[in-house]
Amino acid sequence: MATVRVALAERGYDVVIEAGLLGRAGALLTPLARTGRQIVVSDENVWAALGERLVAGLGATWVEPIVLPPGEASKSWPVLTGLVDRLLGLGLERGEPILAFGGGVIGDLAGFAAAIVKRGCPFVQIPTTLLAQVDSSVGGKTGINAAAGKNMVGAFHQPALVLIDPDCLGALPPRELRAGYAEVVKYGLIGDADFFAWCEANGAALLAGDPAARAHAIETSVAAKATIVAEDERETTGRRALLNLGHSFAHALEAETGFSHHLLHGEAVAIGMVLALRLSAERGLCGAGDADRVAVHLKSVGLPTSLAEAGLDGAGAALAAHLLHDKKAKAGRPMLILADGIGRALAVADISPAEVAEFLDRA
Ligand code: GLY
Repeated sequence: MATVRVALAERGYDVVIEAGLLGRAGALLTPLARTGRQIVVSDENVWAALGERLVAGLGATWVEPIVLPPGEASKSWPVLTGLVDRLLGLGLERGEPILAFGGGVIGDLAGFAAAIVKRGCPFVQIPTTLLAQVDSSVGGKTGINAAAGKNMVGAFHQPALVLIDPDCLGALPPRELRAGYAEVVKYGLIGDADFFAWCEANGAALLAGDPAARAHAIETSVAAKATIVAEDERETTGRRALLNLGHSFAHALEAETGFSHHLLHGEAVAIGMVLALRLSAERGLCGAGDADRVAVHLKSVGLPTSLAEAGLDGAGAALAAHLLHDKKAKAGRPMLILADGIGRALAVADISPAEVAEFLDRA
């Protein structure tokens, strides 16, 4: 078992990582328990595949599941209000934890509900996808989408505990697993060139189900994220913004493709990271070889790496317009995370939308 501490003083918490952890979730949750029940928010797919395993792990506790439709469309006002009403209808006591059992959508949605119901209740993240295990379950970003864009409404609300069971990944479709792997590679590109080299050597084994590779990737990613979150919890110093390497481009690609199954978030991140490295090379920050190396690795595991693969070649102006709606854009310029080498991400805010559009049309 590995435990990573997110060192945020009174808001600090443990991330516990162990294969088979669901089987002893009850014991790990005992210190947080306020009542004889556990309220679990999940989605239909996760609940069907893994619900029984969690219920068994919770032992004698009475489990109250709230099972929502799967997919990004659930990160919406109507689903949020319905969830809050269900929680209040169950007589949720202040201080009673809500368990978020699922991928990033469930974590963001249940976490936001926990942030606002009765002015704030604790919540526990039990992430079941690779993307949620290595990124979204740690750090306290919660929220929903709005007409104006993705994650436009939300709150920082740190979980009280994160329980990661890599065995849950066995239930994931291979495409979703691969998409989550893009977020693993991200940590190498942001600040750990050795970890990127590890990914090059072990990424295929991880995706094929190698338990040691999975455990190492999750532990390394969570440790990197915990360090960054502890340094810049609310993204005020710029340190946490580095976690968005590839993400501004990714959100633009997702917006242009309608946040659909056409392009999963992690797939968009893979293309976005390659674009970020290629733009870095054009601006003389890193060598073209670094960008090629990233593209070669992501392609080797079956991830898309070009705008053409997303059906978006020639869409530079439309994508650049989306970049200006990003929460991080300032004074009419996008804020992009680029890199002056593998493992050395940095924020760049002096690129004009026209320059980005022209770059994207050539990319
Ligand atoms: N996923 C980016 C962050 O948590 O800051």
